[in-house]
Amino acid sequence: MDEVEALRATLLSAIEGASDLAALEEVRVHALGRKGQLTERMKSLGALDIEARKAMGVRLNAVKDDITTALAARKEQLGAAALNQRLAAERIDVTLPVRPEQEGRIHPITQVIDELVAIFADMGFTVAEGPDIEDDFHNFTALNIPPEHPARQMHDTFYLPPGPNGERKLLRTHTSPVQIRTMEAGPPPYRVIVPGRTYRVDYDMTHTPMFHQIEGLVIDTTSHMGHLKGCLTDLVRAFFELEDLPTRFRPSFFPFTEPSAEMDIGCSRKAGELKLGQGGDWLEILGCGMVHPKVLELSGVDPTRYQGFAFGLGVERCAMLKYGIPDLRTFFEADLRWLRHYGFSALDVPSLATGLSR
Ligand code: DAH
Repeated sequence: MDEVEALRATLLSAIEGASDLAALEEVRVHALGRKGQLTERMKSLGALDIEARKAMGVRLNAVKDDITTALAARKEQLGAAALNQRLAAERIDVTLPVRPEQEGRIHPITQVIDELVAIFADMGFTVAEGPDIEDDFHNFTALNIPPEHPARQMHDTFYLPPGPNGERKLLRTHTSPVQIRTMEAGPPPYRVIVPGRTYRVDYDMTHTPMFHQIEGLVIDTTSHMGHLKGCLTDLVRAFFELEDLPTRFRPSFFPFTEPSAEMDIGCSRKAGELKLGQGGDWLEILGCGMVHPKVLELSGVDPTRYQGFAFGLGVERCAMLKYGIPDLRTFFEADLRWLRHYGFSALDVPSLATGLSR
């Protein structure tokens, strides 16, 4: 075997022997690289005379072709083998049981807000928001709350230190100021709900300094008390998932509505146990009324053309009633055991289409 044949045999067997892609690349550089064996042989052609150069050139080129072909073939082989190995190693057995990982829970307040928003969205409401830090005008004055009203007292409301102009901002005591902000922002009609945090100086079994409300506002030219009753009756029946839940509207007073009402839902209290539905007893659930003409006027809406209703309900109260949570304060104690017990799965997104129950 002459030298060229020997070179070809060595290189081919090195290619065959390369056990992975990195080794194969090494062989390639060794043969065809700038200082590779075959490359060096080609460079030395210049020293030969013309006939010999021609003959040797043809042979070396043939070797180069063979080596190139062999390299490509082996590369494909090794690549496929590597892929197969990875596929085998990364195989997932989808029949294995899920690893027991701790899943986070949705807080009942978030859950109940989502449920209520889903119901209102079905009725054509959109969600509006406003600031937690309010001014006196939006929280009180524009809502027709008189200067001597107890809610304005220092001991009921969290006031901030006075600003440069002496004005004292406050933590909103209800979501009602967003009624005003909605009306200031553009012309009627309005059909909005406002979920949000509210603050009062209070702390016992049924009061916490921060709690949540959902405000509602419907204003157009024709909305009347019948719409208010129908809308809120549909709401509580959908929310509590009781189609025949009795409702009752009792006359009441709020400065920002006229007439004002409180809505009760039917229940029974037997042996100290509360059960929603028919039963002869009543439970107060929310405040509502026809928006006072003065409130419309103070918000820049013409009360001779427009009218409508508003309502406000407590989110925690709704959560406690629907899911049997006894103590309001536990909502804010950040106790993981409590959250695991009363919380909801994140995968269980409420919507009217899929049903609201767990
Ligand atoms: N803002 C009232 C409260 O916090 C609740 C309320 C009552 C809101 C009647 C309303 C309403 O919009 O019409 O006690």
